[in-house]
Amino acid sequence: MINLLDISSRTVRALRREWILKRGGILSATFGMTYKCNLRCTTCGVWVRGETDTMTELTTAEILEAARQLAELKVPQVILVGSEPLLRRDSLDIIDGMRKLGLDVDVITNGTLFTERTSERVVKAGVRAITVSVDGVGKRHDEVRGQERAWERAMSGLERLSAVKKRLNSSRPRLALHATISRLNADQLEELSALQDSLNMDVSFQLASETSPEEVAASRLDGQVVAGEEFVSRDGSFLPTDEDVRRIRAFVSRPGIVRKHPTLAILATMSDDDIRHGRFPVHGCRVVEGEILIDPYGFVRPCSHLEAYDYGNVRDQTIEAIWTGVKRRKLVDKVRADMFPICDKCCQHGQNLSFAQKARMILTKGAG
Ligand SMILES: C[S@@+](CC[C@H](N)C(=O)[O-])C[C@H]1O[C@@H](n2cnc3c(N)ncnc32)[C@H](O)[C@@H]1O
Ligand code: SF4
Ligand code: SF4
Repeated sequence: MINLLDISSRTVRALRREWILKRGGILSATFGMTYKCNLRCTTCGVWVRGETDTMTELTTAEILEAARQLAELKVPQVILVGSEPLLRRDSLDIIDGMRKLGLDVDVITNGTLFTERTSERVVKAGVRAITVSVDGVGKRHDEVRGQERAWERAMSGLERLSAVKKRLNSSRPRLALHATISRLNADQLEELSALQDSLNMDVSFQLASETSPEEVAASRLDGQVVAGEEFVSRDGSFLPTDEDVRRIRAFVSRPGIVRKHPTLAILATMSDDDIRHGRFPVHGCRVVEGEILIDPYGFVRPCSHLEAYDYGNVRDQTIEAIWTGVKRRKLVDKVRADMFPICDKCCQHGQNLSFAQKARMILTKGAG
């Protein structure tokens, strides 16, 4: 049944986003809370920095000062990621502080750290959404995530969160699962989809991003490399094999599956060759127009791929000055004129679809 309330609140949100973009405001800010992680996922290169970096992470007060400025700038959404955001000892105080500032907070997490106390605090804080990443079911998840019992811990975390929500009669946070598709799990798509029914939580899907060292080296601004190495595979490619492409195609072609998992519409509109090479339909970047990523050391970056470029640091300048500054202007102008070689492999491609691509998605969804 069509939920008119849901459609109207989504429409209001979409209109508000367009209005913010039009007046040059910030749509959303992502805090990379720490590069440290308790897992070692095969497709992820973010945790690797946590092993070697020696810089000092932002303090609780510094993060909350940045959040205060974001609230003042009327930024509607703050997303906490990392590596693993909940690994910071002060993560719950940060969430409380951001909520007190009136910010809507979403958390993307590996889900292994939800003790009873943590679950109770995030529910009481009124976090809007918690997305737990799943890269397979059972043992497969553990293998891809590089740690025994990662699956068991994520599932009991979700169970705990659901129980606390029920006990406190809270509709927040919305709980969801996110699966990154690669050759390590392309044979488990049906099992991952079934979690939506068994856990009664939405499951979103995204093909893994993998960039080559050549694409990174060629992504330059004023002669300087601006891309990071986080998406370069360490031990051979994790992109789908030919057999996996057939599996993915069969999965996304199943009647009703795109309706069940709307994020699959992107895969459904990609050619086999694009799926095989992890090449996304990106023709323009809305991310740099309206979003920022604040890394653990306070550097404000355009997105998670451009880890070697920053607009400035929140320790030295206000976010408003950084947002309206020369370095951001230069990057936005460059991307508007000509995207970087790594942009084809952008892990935020879902935010960068053109009107025509969105229309095709809606039609594909309707057909699903
Ligand atoms: C880097 S993690 C940080 C948050 C948290 N540690 C987690 O695992 O959800 C954010 C998301 O990126 C996904 N991811 C990992 N490797 C990826 C890749 N190569 N391409 C696209 N997404 C990837 C993860 O599965 C996770 O959903
Ligand atoms: S995907 Fe998340 S949990 Fe896995 S290593 Fe990267 S940051 Fe850690
Ligand atoms: S398309 Fe993706 S990688 Fe390229 S600038 Fe935009 S967000 Fe960054």
